[in-house]
Amino acid sequence: MSSQTITVPDIGGAEGVEVIEICVAVGDTVEAEQSLIVIETDKATVDVPCPAAGKITDIKLSVGDKVSEGDVIGELAGEGSAAAPEPAAEPAPAPVAEAPAAPAAAAPVATSTSAGNTVVPEGVEDAEVIEVSIAVGDVIEEGDTVAVLETDKATVDVPATSGGKVTAVKISVGDKLSSDDVVADLEVSGGAAPAAEAAPAPAAAPVPVAEAPAAPAVSAEPVASVSTVPDGADDAEVIEVLVAVGDTISEGDDLAVLETDKATVEVPANAAGKVTAVKIAVGDKLSSGDVVVELEGSAPAAAAPAPAAAAPQASAPAPVAAPAKAVQPAPEHAGVKNELFSKSTEVYAGPAVRTHARDLGVDLADVKATGPRGRILKEDVDNYVKNLVKTAKAGGTAKVTDGAGIPPMPKHDFAKFGEVETVAMSKIQKLTAMNMHRNWLHIPAVTQFDDADITDLEAFRKGLKAEAEKRGVKLTPLPFLLKACAAALKAEKKFNASLGNDGESVVYKKYVNIGIAADTPVGLLVPVIKDVDKKGLWELAEEANALIKKARDGKLSPSDMQGGCFTISSLGAMGGTGFTPIVNAPEVAILGVSKAQMKPIWNGKEFEPRNMLPLALSYDHRVINGADCGKFFTYLVSVISDVRRLLL
Ligand code: COA
Repeated sequence: MSSQTITVPDIGGAEGVEVIEICVAVGDTVEAEQSLIVIETDKATVDVPCPAAGKITDIKLSVGDKVSEGDVIGELAGEGSAAAPEPAAEPAPAPVAEAPAAPAAAAPVATSTSAGNTVVPEGVEDAEVIEVSIAVGDVIEEGDTVAVLETDKATVDVPATSGGKVTAVKISVGDKLSSDDVVADLEVSGGAAPAAEAAPAPAAAPVPVAEAPAAPAVSAEPVASVSTVPDGADDAEVIEVLVAVGDTISEGDDLAVLETDKATVEVPANAAGKVTAVKIAVGDKLSSGDVVVELEGSAPAAAAPAPAAAAPQASAPAPVAAPAKAVQPAPEHAGVKNELFSKSTEVYAGPAVRTHARDLGVDLADVKATGPRGRILKEDVDNYVKNLVKTAKAGGTAKVTDGAGIPPMPKHDFAKFGEVETVAMSKIQKLTAMNMHRNWLHIPAVTQFDDADITDLEAFRKGLKAEAEKRGVKLTPLPFLLKACAAALKAEKKFNASLGNDGESVVYKKYVNIGIAADTPVGLLVPVIKDVDKKGLWELAEEANALIKKARDGKLSPSDMQGGCFTISSLGAMGGTGFTPIVNAPEVAILGVSKAQMKPIWNGKEFEPRNMLPLALSYDHRVINGADCGKFFTYLVSVISDVRRLLL
């Protein structure tokens, strides 16, 4: 038994890469290619595979360590030379990407044909068209995406098998397509014809799939078959190797996960058998036709390097210098599922994760990704679902527009009964509608009513009219109400409060800012007068006039409408004996003011004509109790009825 020091392989020049997992322990017997450690670069989470089979005798690293190429991982006691796990004829297992195999069938071939088509590549069966990416008149090149298909495993870009000008699109969304179905007719100006037509030679000798052992080809080598990267891949990085030497795989089993700039994709086996060699490693860059694994037990194929006769492209000679990869004739991608290259740019997830999400009814766009480079992992989907369940159990957070579980309103055809005109709501109207609905649903509000005797207040106000005119100020009952409310808010602090964001605390405010609901041409706006308690009547009148004008001129800034503690909504100038205002959250109370009227009031001896102002006070019963309201309201009414009390 020889002993070998295992070191960190080439990790693309990255340095100080963090070890996030140690997958083996001292004493473990490991297979070649088995993961030893997992490291995380800025680009990917990478498994570092064991270079040979053997027994781990020492581990030098811990989770959290930072490593670079050449750093010692541990010691391995093996049966033979760990540095040469592959047969001598194949000395270069690692740098697969540097030696692309001859992509025989995929290469365009010069032709004089002026008409051609692009077809669905091999390996696709009964996949649904979910997007058609080309239109008549488009000029496409070979490899351009012509459609997006959905298989049971992935969302798949269909690359053009030929370039040219699209003269007819033969597919529609919803169609079910299989290999060789025509996607579009093309006008080819002396360019490429469809590969299938132009390269008949290799097609005549496809690599048989595993079920055909009775048809041996040229070689009797024990390497019976290879599984290759399917059509369409170009320089895609291996981010996971899912098989190890000795594994028995079935056709269609996932061998590796590749990462393109568009998606993470799984590479399925195009043959069954026992894995005799894994020809790729994490970090390799693979393209179509690259060998992923060698298999034993499948039908054999020619063992010679890609014969020039079988792939007669002048531009792409078989790379004889790369024996590790050129052991087979151009594999034709027979039986390979062309499932690479998800078009979905919104989310970044592999096919298995997509399937998992679809099974659970999860929209991946809603899922927070925690994988490398923002890739959504299966655990992310599971965590998303767990959180949803937790939230639902805790009472849910239904959208306000959903009616919080209330059955939706039925749709009506008003025009059935006569002429109608439909006018779109303004932005402000829509916002108000949404806020009102939200506040209505969230706040358990109670409205209490009372009348304030404003006979004296009105006498006082009228007495100030001349002075107001001199000052250029319109003096309505509103500034008096502002002053009175400020005093009441200071007296009853529960009204000058908000429910805490946690829903379990109350925030008391030391400032007194009061909003005025103003009817404007674009809808209801609520400018806020700040520090009402610190301002005199004239100042309040001036500021109210100015803010109301600003609101009606559409000139309010966001800060003009923020920071309110309480709102006054006055319909006094318009009429009505009372209404129930909706609390303007996060405030906890709102005063509705209706039209003052002379009423006969019993003074203990007789009925007296008094000017009575109807008031309605709505409050959030989560923060304010009826008794609190009683105190606040009584005080407010007393101050309005006798403004001299404001001096007390
Ligand atoms: N009773 C009798 N008269 C009243 C009154 C009341 N409660 N309130 C105001 N008036 C009088 C004013 O004194 C004024 O008359 P005057 O010029 O003879 O003094 C007249 O009505 C017009 O007042 P107005 O211009 O409306 O000023 P205001 O200061 O009373 O109100 C607003 C300003 C911005 C509050 C008001 O114009 C407004 O837009 N209200 C709509 C609020 C709303 O839509 N709320 C939503 C309800 S759900």
